Amino acid sequence: MLLERFLEARASAAVQAALELAEPTSALLRPTQDPRFGDFQLNAAMALGKQLGRPPRELAEKIAEKLRGEEFVASAEVAGPGFVNLTLDDAFLAKLVTDGLGDAEHLGVTPVDAPEKVIIDYSGPNIAKQMHVGHLRSTILGDAIARALEFRGHQVIRDNHLGDWGTQYGLLIVGMREFGDAKALEADPIVELERVYKLASERAKNDEDFAEAARRELKKLQDGDPENRALWKRFVDVTRRTIDEIYAELGVRFDLYLGESAYHDALAGVVRTLEERGIAREDEGAKAVFWGEVEGEVPAKLRKQKEPFLVQKRDGAYLYSTTDIATVLYRRDELGVDRALYVVDHRQALHFEQVFAVARLLGVTMELVHVGFGTVLGADGKPLKTRDASGAALTLAVLLRQAKERAAERIREGMAEGRLKVEEHEIPSLAKAVGIGAVKYADLMNNRTTDYRFDLDRMVSFTGNAGPYLQYVHARSASIFRKAGIDEASAVGPIRVTAPEEAKLVRRLVRFGDAVEKVATLYLPHILCEHLYDLASEFNAFYQACKVLDAEDEATKQSRLALVAATARQMRVGLGLLGIEAPERM
Ligand code: ARG
Repeated sequence: MLLERFLEARASAAVQAALELAEPTSALLRPTQDPRFGDFQLNAAMALGKQLGRPPRELAEKIAEKLRGEEFVASAEVAGPGFVNLTLDDAFLAKLVTDGLGDAEHLGVTPVDAPEKVIIDYSGPNIAKQMHVGHLRSTILGDAIARALEFRGHQVIRDNHLGDWGTQYGLLIVGMREFGDAKALEADPIVELERVYKLASERAKNDEDFAEAARRELKKLQDGDPENRALWKRFVDVTRRTIDEIYAELGVRFDLYLGESAYHDALAGVVRTLEERGIAREDEGAKAVFWGEVEGEVPAKLRKQKEPFLVQKRDGAYLYSTTDIATVLYRRDELGVDRALYVVDHRQALHFEQVFAVARLLGVTMELVHVGFGTVLGADGKPLKTRDASGAALTLAVLLRQAKERAAERIREGMAEGRLKVEEHEIPSLAKAVGIGAVKYADLMNNRTTDYRFDLDRMVSFTGNAGPYLQYVHARSASIFRKAGIDEASAVGPIRVTAPEEAKLVRRLVRFGDAVEKVATLYLPHILCEHLYDLASEFNAFYQACKVLDAEDEATKQSRLALVAATARQMRVGLGLLGIEAPERM
């Protein structure tokens, strides 16, 4: 269950009954900051005191009295000017965890009543260019959000909106004919494409004939000339090969690869419609939306904006903006989605505000969300370059390889110190799980709206808040069953709380659903990371304080084995939702 939702509903009913209110009202339930004040705090009496003109403490006492009769409440105490501090009942919580063990797939977290069709637009690298860390962050975040939504029961469509169309292809086509090296294109496609593009754009600056040829080839490409189409297709294919290797490494997949080129044929129609509806107009040959003039609902911030939103250039070329407007319409009309998420760098915030505003003017009602994120920084605190000072590419493939190497070093260290029990032949696959998991966790553990520093050494740490530490705690909990020769699935409890560490552990375990729900509604995977990190700490404290296999009696042993099983499973499923592997042994 979603504990917070359950408690809020029950507490609200208690508030209404205790105060004999005609209308239901929120209990204003919040988790307490300090466990000495119980598990949750209700703030409703404070707000209602003002409204009803009665002393909040008097109302709080009535609410507390009502709550004391509920089966999930251990105690309800009035504190301060009128808070109600709620401590949950251990047996109630223990039963929730025990019940969750019977639900291998959802761990007791019931899926949403009304599933939606949600499209997630993430990764979106550009053809003929190196995929950069911003794309990596989008890929990791988008994948985690997709998994959380699926876990909650939504139907998810993963779409990779590749940057595979635009004016650069004219230059690439003439450049390839002039400077291209077919062998290099095969061996190291992106390096070759970037080299050719650089040469061609330099040449075009000083050579008007060359520039003109590039424009001609672009026009031919856009008009469907077979030869140019074939060349363009080849650029796309070779780039796809490189990026697909990275996706395979990351364990990320897509349902659709509808890049910008997929919308090419719709763009003229989009601009025509915008003009017909009075949303865009001509200005010196170009077509744009002038936010100050358009009629209809426009966000106040855009209303004031002087800069128009360009949808067609003077030379007739369409833009990134035009494509994104066409994309929204396609997703509504052809895919029938209820919600579209765009996991893209926050520097594109204004772009999406404008695309969404145009969509609204066109009558689009589906939910549109720009899930923005901050910059990945290098050790120097500046945006991490996928290119070092000498210009040599520090590509994502290299970055991921380094993460795996670093992980392998740490694993060998752990083996030498006797902390890790790993066989030599297991190192490569374990180093992959640990290294890639570390990069993902380091990204996801930070609130996406902030920048973070890419620090490989800290990422691959087996202690502290890092991916390998969580994988280690998972493997340790799973190994308890293996060592004892017990099947994890046979640990079904019932769980009984006898020690304070058990009380803390069940309190954490029951919050899993809340954490996943927040990832699926707020698109903040760090909330699940925090949950799993706390779970790991509380599991360690429990395991240190409480004997499991040689517990005082059989009932206690069964209860504790069930707690271990619940932890192992939640850690495994939780890491899985972050796209991180959870090896059974290490
Ligand atoms: N290719 C774009 C870039 O590299 C990202 C695409 C994001 N998706 C979208 N529908 N605009 O910045």
